[in-house]
Amino acid sequence: MSLVLAPALTDLQPGRSTITADVLAGLSQHPKALPSKYFYDAHGSALFEQITHQPEYYPTRTELALLQQVMPDIARAVGPGARVVEYGSGSGRKTRLLLQGLSDPVAYTPIEISRAALLASVTELALELPQVEMLPVCADFTGPVRLPEPAQRHDSTLVFFPGSTLGNFTHDESVQLLRAMRQTMGSDGMALIGIDLHKDVAVVEAAYNDAAGITAAFTLNLLARLNRDVGSDFDLSCFQHRARYHVPRMRIETELVSTCEQVVHVDGERFHFAAGEAMQVEYSHKYTDASFAALAAAAGLVVGEGWDSPAPEFGLRLLRPST
Ligand code: AVI
Repeated sequence: MSLVLAPALTDLQPGRSTITADVLAGLSQHPKALPSKYFYDAHGSALFEQITHQPEYYPTRTELALLQQVMPDIARAVGPGARVVEYGSGSGRKTRLLLQGLSDPVAYTPIEISRAALLASVTELALELPQVEMLPVCADFTGPVRLPEPAQRHDSTLVFFPGSTLGNFTHDESVQLLRAMRQTMGSDGMALIGIDLHKDVAVVEAAYNDAAGITAAFTLNLLARLNRDVGSDFDLSCFQHRARYHVPRMRIETELVSTCEQVVHVDGERFHFAAGEAMQVEYSHKYTDASFAALAAAAGLVVGEGWDSPAPEFGLRLLRPST
C-alpha cells in the first residue's frame, strides 16, 4: 500500500527549527501562548479522534449527519468533475461522504500537518475510491502551499474545510486562510466550510470538558509533543487543562494553567511560570450567520447556500468568490 502512496506524497512537514521558533515566540508573549496546530502529532490525532466519540462533543456527529442529509444539494451546487482540496484531513469520515456524494470527482488533495493522520486517511480512501486520484500534501496549510496538479482535467475546485477547524484561528488568521482558499478555488470554484454555531454556554463548555478527561489529555499532549520534538522540559504534572466559553467573543478559550511556580527550558532559554498562570493554547470560535458572513466578506467571499442542523446547532456553508 505504501508503495502506491509514497511517490504521490508531497512532504512539506514543518521541521524542528520552525516548531522551536514558534514555541519561543509564543512563550515570549504576555500572556504566554502556544500554537494549537502542534496538538496533532500521531498521539494527538488519535486523542482528537477519541474526542469526536465523546458524548459531550457534539460537533463531529452533528456535522456528519447534516452532511449526509444535504449531500444531494451540495452535489447539485458543485457539479461534476471537481477536484477536492481539503484543509486538514481529519479521520476521513466526512471526506468519504463528500467524495461518494459528488458527481465524478477527479482528484482529492488533503493538506495536513500530521503525516501519520494524512497517510492513514488517504490509504483507506484510495482503496474505497480507486477512480479518484489521491494527491496528499503533508504541510502546514496556514502558509502558502503549492498543490500538485491532477493527471486528469478538472472542471472546478472545491475547497473542503469541515469540523469548524476555522474556529481554531484568530479573526485575522481566519481571513488570511479564507483568502488563501479563494485563491486555491479560482474564480469558478467554491468552498464548503463547517462552522459550529453559537449556543447555550453549558452545551459548549461540556464539549470541551468531557467527563472521561480525553480533552484534558489532548491539551496536555501538546507539552509532551514539544518535549519530544523541540527538547523542552515541560512537567506535565504541573499543568492543568481549562476550557471556558467567552460569550462576547463567542469562543472557547483553552488554557494550560501552571499549578505551581516553575521554570521551563526551551532551546537554552528559561521561561518562568507563576502559580496559577494561564497559557493560551487553543481558541474554538463559534459563529452566528451574521458573524460568519462578515468574516467571509472580509476575504472576498460570499455565502451562497447554507444548511443548519437542529440543536445542537452546527452549520455548513458554501462560499463563492464575491467578484
Ligand atoms: C479541530 N477543532 C475544530 C476542534 C475544536 O472543536 O476546536 C479541536 C478540539 N479541541 C478540543 N476539543 C476539540
